[in-house]
Amino acid sequence: MSHIQIKNLKKSYIDQRRIARGEEKSFKNQDIVVLNDINLEFQDGEMVCILGPSGCGKSTMLRMIAGFEKPTSGHVLINGEVVSQPRADSIFVFQHSGLLPWMTVWENVELGVRHLEDTEKKHKIIQDYINMVELGNFENHYPHQLSGGMLRRAELARALAVNPDTLIMDEPFSGLDFLTHMKMREEVVNMHEFIKKTTLVVTHDIDDALIMGDRVIVMSGRPSQVKLERKLSFGRPRDLGSHPELRELRDEIFFMLGVSYAV
Ligand SMILES: Nc1ncnc2c1ncn2[C@@H]1O[C@H](COP(=O)(O)OP(=O)(O)OP(=O)(O)O)[C@@H](O)[C@H]1O
Ligand SMILES: [Mg+2]
Repeated sequence: MSHIQIKNLKKSYIDQRRIARGEEKSFKNQDIVVLNDINLEFQDGEMVCILGPSGCGKSTMLRMIAGFEKPTSGHVLINGEVVSQPRADSIFVFQHSGLLPWMTVWENVELGVRHLEDTEKKHKIIQDYINMVELGNFENHYPHQLSGGMLRRAELARALAVNPDTLIMDEPFSGLDFLTHMKMREEVVNMHEFIKKTTLVVTHDIDDALIMGDRVIVMSGRPSQVKLERKLSFGRPRDLGSHPELRELRDEIFFMLGVSYAV
C-alpha cells in the first residue's frame, strides 16, 4: 500500500548567477523558489495526473516524492514515514531515459526483478513486459541501438515489471509516436484498473490527464502552487466526447495554461 502526503513542501535553488564572486558577502534573496508551500495527498491506489507550465517544478516535486532530492522545508510522507531516500517500493519513470547504457533491454528490465528466485517465473515476467511494449525482437539490443520511442517503451517495461507500490512517471509518453502513445496510455490505464497501485503521472498532455486520472492537478508557474485540483469520477475507458463535463474541464485547463481556446 502507498498513501502519500505532501506537507508544506517548499523547494528553492540557489541562483548561481547571483553569487558574488571572490567576496564573502552574498546577495540577499538570491534563491529561486520553485515550489512554494505545496500540500497534497494521494490515496492508496489512486492515479493522479499533474499538469503545469514548463519549468514550474513538476519533476522537482516527483524527485522529492521519490526521495532523490530533499525539500528546502516541509516534507513528503509515504504511509506516515518521512521520505529521506529512494525506497525499494517506489519506481520512477524518468522524463529522459533512465536505462543503463551498458545493459541490454532484457538486462535493464531484469534489474527490477533480479531478486526473484524462481528463474522461470522471472523470465516470464521479463518477456511478458518486453512483449507488451512490442520490443520482442530487441531484447539483446543496447539503449544506443534503440530509437527514442523504443527507449521510452523499454523504460516503461522496466518500471511495470517491478510491480511497485508507487509508480512515479515523469512524462512517460514523451517521444512516442501517436499510435504508440495511445497504446501505451491504454496499457497504463488497464494496468491501473487491474492492479490499483498509487500512480503519479506528470504530463503536458491535457487529454492524457483527463483520460487517465482519478484526479487531475494543475500547478501554477514558478513559484509554483496548486492552482486546480479536480476529482474525475468517470468510468474507464473514457471518451472525452461523451462527457460534456470533461470537455468543459479541458477548456478550463487549456485556458489556465494560457491557451484561450481549446484545440
Ligand atoms: N538542480 C537544480 N539546480 C538549480 N535549479 C534547478 C535544479 N533542478 C531544477 N531547477 C530549476 O527548477 C525549476 C523547475 O524545474 P523542473 O525540472 O522541476 O520543471 P518541470 O515543471 O518538470 O518542467 P518541464 O515541464 O519542462 O519538464 C526550473 O526553473 C529549473 O531550472
Ligand atoms: Mg519535468
